Amino acid sequence: MPGPLLDTLRGKSVFPRPVWLMRQAGRYLPEYRALRAEKGGFLELVYDCDAAAEITLQPVRRFGFDGAILFSDILIVPYAMGQGLQFLAGEGPKLSPTLADHALESLAAVPERLSPIYDTVAKVKAQLDPGTTLLGFAGSPWTVATYMVAGEGSRDQHVTRLMAYRDPLAFQAIIDAIVEVTVDYLSGQIAAGAEAVQLFDSWAGSLAPAEFERWVIAPNAAIVSRLRARHPGVPVIGFPKGSGEKLPAYACETGVDAVGVDETIDPLWAARELPAGLPVQGNFDPLSLEAGSDMLEARAVALLEAFAGRPHVFNLGHGIGQHTPIAHVERLLAAVRGWRG
Ligand code: CP3
Repeated sequence: MPGPLLDTLRGKSVFPRPVWLMRQAGRYLPEYRALRAEKGGFLELVYDCDAAAEITLQPVRRFGFDGAILFSDILIVPYAMGQGLQFLAGEGPKLSPTLADHALESLAAVPERLSPIYDTVAKVKAQLDPGTTLLGFAGSPWTVATYMVAGEGSRDQHVTRLMAYRDPLAFQAIIDAIVEVTVDYLSGQIAAGAEAVQLFDSWAGSLAPAEFERWVIAPNAAIVSRLRARHPGVPVIGFPKGSGEKLPAYACETGVDAVGVDETIDPLWAARELPAGLPVQGNFDPLSLEAGSDMLEARAVALLEAFAGRPHVFNLGHGIGQHTPIAHVERLLAAVRGWRG
């Protein structure tokens, strides 16, 4: 029995709106922090399938979200492609060797690094109420490439944008390699029980229009068409964060089943400009949630009203912040569930 989230992603308008929050399994939850303190670092949690399944389920138990998103990270793909991966406290993730300094061919793939993730998906699926949709995910090739090339995060992804201009053929080979692994990886998640998948392009916003076509739209379109051939009927949500006015082109040309909208976009504009009937997901500002002012409920209602004309999954415009009070999440959910249209 598909739940309200899966129904919405398949194009039905559902009442009350289904809701989940990006990064809902994470540090703002005391039960997450307790398990993490017991088990050690982030990567240790991801590779402990029982712990990762438990963390995936924690926010669903606490808040009754309509979706459960697999607890993992977008950097597992570079790790499986043969880069070393470390999460250093206070410094962010580090990948080595970097593809700025080393050829793609110098990496030796370690596909076994993906299998535990499939085990986690299967464990979650076995424990999940059938009305709650299990979401798999991966980073999109451009965003993943920015970490593989630079070896770490950066404010404007300049090292990778320069490489893409200076040596587009070498960069295309990196993107193509990520597409290959990502199709298999998402396919493996679906085979293990994921009912829909999301492609996160966190840094789509740093590209000029022609580069956006080549490095965001084209690789995401390739992933969507190959997944659809293997798994017809499994919706793909595309989330090109920061894409602004390029969002309608992304939605049309990638063929995604639903589009994630970040908080910088006016929902009334998105409702008007996106293809009729296309399901949207978003776009409550995570900082508005963290601040929790007395405007929170009114802002939630304004968002529900703005997307009243199409299938809408209520979500944030980006991940929930680690300092967000639980009480603010409860208020947001009460506003969404209590809305009578
Ligand atoms: O909704 C989801 O859970 C989506 C999956 C997702 C995660 N991370 C899960 C995660 C996605 C799309 C990411 C993106 C990501 N991860 C980026 C790209 C930029 C962005 O913000 O979108 C980067 C640079 C990372 C690397 C990363 N992951 C760091 C630096 C950390 C914190 C490390 C630590 O020691 O806790 C993570 C942890 C992480 N990734 C969590 C989750 C749910 C757990 C903790 C939390 O952030 O609350």
